[in-house]
Amino acid sequence: MKQAKALVMLTVFFVLAGVFVFLLSIQVLTRKSSPRPVFTGASSTSESCRPCHNAIYDSYIETGHFLTSSPAARKSVMGDFTEGSNVVHTPLSDLEFRMESTREGFFQTGVYTNDSTATFSKPFHVVVGSGERSQTYLFWQGKKMFQLPGMYFTPEKTWTLGPGYENWIAKWGKLPKKNLSMLYQRPIGGRCIECHASTVARVGSPMGYDFVPETLELGISCSKCHGPGTEHISFHQKNPEENKGRHIINPARLSRSQQLSSCALCHAGQGIPRTPPLSFRPGDEIKDHRFYPKEEQKKLSVHGGQVPFLEESRCFLESGTMTCSTCHNVHEDQTDRTELFSQKCLSCHVNSHIDKPSLNQGDRCTTCHMPDQKAPNLPVFHEGEPWYLSMSNHRIGIF
Ligand code: HEC
Ligand code: HEC
Ligand code: HEC
Ligand code: HEC
Ligand code: HEC
Ligand code: HEC
Ligand code: HEC
Repeated sequence: MKQAKALVMLTVFFVLAGVFVFLLSIQVLTRKSSPRPVFTGASSTSESCRPCHNAIYDSYIETGHFLTSSPAARKSVMGDFTEGSNVVHTPLSDLEFRMESTREGFFQTGVYTNDSTATFSKPFHVVVGSGERSQTYLFWQGKKMFQLPGMYFTPEKTWTLGPGYENWIAKWGKLPKKNLSMLYQRPIGGRCIECHASTVARVGSPMGYDFVPETLELGISCSKCHGPGTEHISFHQKNPEENKGRHIINPARLSRSQQLSSCALCHAGQGIPRTPPLSFRPGDEIKDHRFYPKEEQKKLSVHGGQVPFLEESRCFLESGTMTCSTCHNVHEDQTDRTELFSQKCLSCHVNSHIDKPSLNQGDRCTTCHMPDQKAPNLPVFHEGEPWYLSMSNHRIGIF
C-alpha cells in the first residue's frame, strides 16, 4: 500500500517536472523563434508625422519628452561657460572641473589647481534632460557613451557634480596614482537611452554597452507611444479621403493596463529587466518586461515612479477608469497648470469641501492632495551639502 502511494507520488512528480520542462522549453523556443527587431525609428521620426498632424507636432516639440535629449549646442546646454561661473569644485581642494566653450565645441576639463599641466578633457556630445529639473551630459568614445562628471542643477541655476561623484572622487583621491581619466568612465547603457531617447542600434550583446552612434535618435519620438508609422503614413498618402486613422496605435483604444504600461516603461522606476532594453512596444504589458520590487516603489524617485504611486490612490482604485491621460495630455507642455489639474479633480469630486468654502477654490486641489515633495534618491552634493529634487506625489490622498 505504502509502495503504491510512493509510486503514485513519484509519477506525479515526474509528470509535473515534465510539464515544467516542457513549458520552459516553449518559453525558450518562442523567445528564440520570434526575435524582436531593434527599433529603428528612422522611417517614422516625429518629423514624418508633421504634414498631417501639424498642430500636435508643433505643441509636442515644446514638451519635456521631445526635449529630453538633444545634441550638445549653445541652445541645449543650460549652464554658463563664462569665466567665474564655469567651475565645479570637488571634495579635493586641488581638483576642479572647468566648463569650457571653444571653437572645437564644449568641454569638461579636470584641472589640478597646483599643476595646470596635468589636465584631462572630454567634449559634451549629448545633453540628457530638458532642463526642467537638471541636465546630464554624455560623450561618445568609439561605440560607447560615457557620462561627464559635471551636471547642471536647475533649482540652483548652477553647475555641480553629478550624483555619486562626490563619494567616488573622495575615494579616488586616496589612490597612490590618481589618473584623471578614471573620473570619465561611467558607461551609459541601453536603459538610459530607452527612457531618454527614441532608439539606437546595438552592436553585440543586447545587454551590452556598444552602439552605432549614427543611429542614435535623440528626444522621445511619436513612435515611442504610437508604434512605427511607416504603414500608416503610406496608407493615408494613398488614401487622402480616408478620415479614420489606420495602421497606427491610438493608446486611447488600448486596455487600461496597456495604457498604463506604455507610461510605466519610463514612469515606474528602474525595476529589474526581464527583456533587453528597447524591447518594449506600445501595446505590450510592462510586467512581461520588468519586475518591480515592492520596496523600490515606496519612495519618490527623480526617475519617474508615478505609476505605482497613482495605483495606490483611492481615486485610481475606486474610479476603475483613471489612467495617466485622465489628467495629462502628453502632446502639450502642462507644467504648473495647477488650475487645469484642479478641473480634472472636480470632474469626479463635484461636492468635495462644499461645506468649507475656504477650501473650495478650484485652482489648488493638488497643493494639498498631490504635494511637491523631495525625492530622497540621487541627491546631488554641492560643497558637501546634499541637494534634492522635488516631485509631485501621485499617491493622491490626504497628507
Ligand atoms: C499622410 C497623412 C498622415 C501622416 C503623415 C500621418 N498621419 Fe496619422 N492620421 C492621418 C489621418 C487622416 C488620420 C485620421 C484622422 C485623425 O484622427 O486625425 C490619422 C490618425 C492618427 C492617429 C489616431 C488613430 C486612431 O485610431 O484614432 C494617430 C495616433 C496617428 N494618426 C499618429 C500618427 C503618427 C505617430 C504619425 C507619424 C509617424 C502620423 N500619424 C503620420 C494621416 C496621417
Ligand atoms: C520613453 C520614456 C517615456 C515614456 C514612454 C513616457 N515618458 Fe513621460 N517623461 C519621460 C522623461 C525622460 C521625462 C522627463 C523629460 C525631461 O524633462 O527631460 C518625462 C516627463 C513627463 C512629464 C512631465 C512634463 C513634461 O512634459 O516634461 C509628464 C506629465 C509625463 N512624462 C507623462 C507621461 C505619460 C502620461 C506617459 C504615457 C502616455 C509618458 N509620460 C510616457 C519619459 C517617458
Ligand atoms: C508619451 C507618449 C506619446 C507621444 C510621445 C506621442 N503621443 Fe500621441 N497620443 C498619446 C496618447 C496617450 C494618446 C491618447 C490620448 C487619449 O487618451 O485621448 C495619443 C493620441 C494621439 C492622436 C489621436 C488624436 C488625439 O488628439 O488624441 C494622434 C493623432 C496622436 N496622438 C499623434 C501624435 C503625434 C503626431 C506625435 C508626435 C509629434 C505623438 N502623438 C506623440 C501618447 C503619445
Ligand atoms: C526607467 C526610465 C529611466 C531611466 C533608466 C533613466 N531615467 Fe532619467 N528620468 C526618467 C524620467 C521619467 C524622468 C523625469 C522625472 C520623473 O518623471 O520622475 C527623468 C529625469 C532625468 C533627468 C532630469 C530631467 C529634467 O530636466 O527634468 C536627468 C538629467 C536624467 N533623468 C538623466 C538620466 C541619465 C543620464 C540616465 C542613465 C544613466 C537616466 N536618466 C536613466 C526616466 C529614466
Ligand atoms: C476619475 C475620477 C477621479 C478623479 C479625476 C479624481 N478622483 Fe479623487 N477619488 C475618486 C474616487 C472614486 C475616490 C474614492 C471615493 C471618494 O472618496 O469619493 C477618490 C478619493 C479621493 C480622496 C480621498 C483619499 C483618501 O485616501 O481617503 C481625495 C483626497 C481625492 N480623491 C482627491 C482628488 C484630487 C485632488 C484629484 C485631482 C488631482 C482627484 N481626486 C481626481 C475619483 C477621482
Ligand atoms: C489626478 C491627476 C493626475 C493623474 C491621473 C496623473 N498625474 Fe501626473 N501630475 C499631476 C499633477 C497635478 C502634476 C504636477 C504638475 C505641475 O505642477 O507642473 C503632475 C506631474 C507629473 C510629472 C512631472 C514630474 C512630477 O512628478 O512632478 C510627471 C512625470 C507625471 N505627472 C507623470 C504621470 C504619469 C506617468 C501618470 C500615470 C501613472 C500621471 N502622471 C497621472 C496630476 C496627475
Ligand atoms: C488647504 C488644503 C486643501 C485643499 C486646497 C483641498 N483640500 Fe481636499 N482635503 C483636505 C483635507 C485636510 C482633507 C481631509 C479632512 C477634510 O475632509 O476636511 C480633505 C479631504 C478631501 C476629500 C475626501 C473627503 C471628501 O470631501 O470627499 C476629497 C475628495 C478632497 N479633499 C478633494 C479636494 C478637491 C477636489 C480640491 C480642490 C477643489 C481640494 N480637495 C482642495 C485639504 C485640502
